[in-house]
Amino acid sequence: VGQGLLSLPPALLARIAAAVGTPTYVYDAEHIRRQFRRLQAALGTLPHRIHYSVKANGNLAVLSLVHHLGAGADIVSGGELARALRAGFSPGEIVFSGVGKSERELVAALEAGVGLINMESAGELALLHRLARGRAAPVAVGIRVNPDVAAETPHPYTQTGRSGMKFGVPMDQVVTLARAVAAERDVVLRSVGMHIGSQIAEPGPYAAGAARLADLVAELRAAGIATLTSVDVGGGLAVPYGSEPGLEPGAFVAAVAPLAHQTGLPLLMEPGRFLVGNAGCLLTRVLYRKRSGGRAFVITDAGMNDLLRPSLYQAYHEITVVDPTAGQAAEAADPEGNPAASATSASPATLVDVVGPNCESGDFLGLDRHLAGAVPGALLAVLSAGAYGFGMSSQYNSRPRAAEVLVDGERFAPVRRREGVEDLMRGETTTLEWENG
Ligand code: LLP
Repeated sequence: VGQGLLSLPPALLARIAAAVGTPTYVYDAEHIRRQFRRLQAALGTLPHRIHYSVKANGNLAVLSLVHHLGAGADIVSGGELARALRAGFSPGEIVFSGVGKSERELVAALEAGVGLINMESAGELALLHRLARGRAAPVAVGIRVNPDVAAETPHPYTQTGRSGMKFGVPMDQVVTLARAVAAERDVVLRSVGMHIGSQIAEPGPYAAGAARLADLVAELRAAGIATLTSVDVGGGLAVPYGSEPGLEPGAFVAAVAPLAHQTGLPLLMEPGRFLVGNAGCLLTRVLYRKRSGGRAFVITDAGMNDLLRPSLYQAYHEITVVDPTAGQAAEAADPEGNPAASATSASPATLVDVVGPNCESGDFLGLDRHLAGAVPGALLAVLSAGAYGFGMSSQYNSRPRAAEVLVDGERFAPVRRREGVEDLMRGETTTLEWENG
C-alpha cells in the first residue's frame, strides 16, 4: 500500500476491518522495530539513550514494544506517566518534560521516582524545590533550553525552538536558573536539552542547536556547575508522508555528535514520530459519495475527531483504496454509488475530497485526491497515521473513539477496543448534587 509508507498487505488490512470494523488504527510492530534499529545503527558507539516520546502514540501495546526494544520514555503529563509505568518502564527510565506541569503531576513524578524532570521556568523550579525538600536523595532535574534556532517544519504549530515561543528557558536565563538549582540541596542539575520542533527534515537546525548547547555546557562548567550527566537533543526527526525522503538518521547523528564529543556527555534523545509515524494507518470505510458545486466528495466513517492532523495543520496524508479492483468495477457502473443514477452518470469523478462525518467544513482527511474505486463500501487506508493520530483524536460530535490493532507479521491483535456510547457519557449525571447548599 502506498509509496513504501506502509508495508502491510491489503488482504490483511481487509481482514482486520472485517473483524474489528472501522474506523480502526492499525500499527505494524515490525516497522517500529526497524525504525528503532535504524536509529541505533546510526548512533553506533556514540554514548546515548533513546527515550520514546509517548505523546506520539501512547497505546500500551506500542509502549510495551518500544520498552522491550530498550528505549526509555519521554512524558509530558501525569497521564503519560501512568501509561509508561503500566507499560513496564521503570521510573528511572522516564524523563518528564512539558511547559506546564501541575503540582499534582510533579508530586506524582517525585513519588514514582522518575529519572529526570526537565524544568521550563523559574516558577516551576521554585515549586519543585518546595516539593523536593527533605527527600532522601536529590531530585535529578534538567533544563529545557530555548536555543533560538529556526527549524523549518510543515506548519508553524510544530516549531518550538525560536525565541518568543512558550517552550524552553531562553539562553540568557539558563545560567541563572542553573545556579538556582545548584544552590539547593534537594535538587541536582543533570541535563540541559532542547527540542526544536517536529517533522524536521534537515540536519542544519540540529547542528545549530547542538552547537549552542555545547557552548552552554562550557559556560555552566566555567560557572562551577559540573553535575551534568547528559545532554538532551529532543526529537523531531521527519518521516515521509508522501514522496519526500524524511530525515536520514545518519544525517541527524552527524549533526548532534559534536555535542557529545565536545562535552564528553552521553546524548539523550526523544524521538516520537520517527519510530511510529509510518508504522500506522487509519482504516475507514466510504459511506457515501456526492457532488456539489463542481466538487466530488467521498464521505468516510472517519473524520477530524479520529485524525485531526489534516484539519489542524493542513497535513498531507496519503490515502489509498485497500481493494481497488472491487471498487473500480462498481465505480464504472456508477461513480457516485447511486444505483438509481447509474444511467445518467457520464463522467466518473476521480478527483475527490475525502471528508468525514463531523459537522465542520474543516473536517477532511484529504483534498483533491485521485482515488479510483472509492465507492460506498470501499475500504480506505489513511497512511502515516501512527504518530499523533489516535492520541489527538476526540469524541467530538459524540463519536466514540476508534479501535486500535497491532500487527506482527501475519498476526493481528486488538490493543484498544472501540469505544461505545457508554464511554461517551462516563462520569456524567443528570442528578444534580449541589456542592454549595
Ligand atoms: N520531545 C519533546 C519535548 C516534544 O515536545 C516532542 C513533540 C517530542 C520530543 C517528539 O517529537 P517527534 O519526534 O515526534 O517529532 N501534533 C504534532 C506534533 C507535535 C509534537 C509535539 N512535541 C503533529 O501531529 O505533527
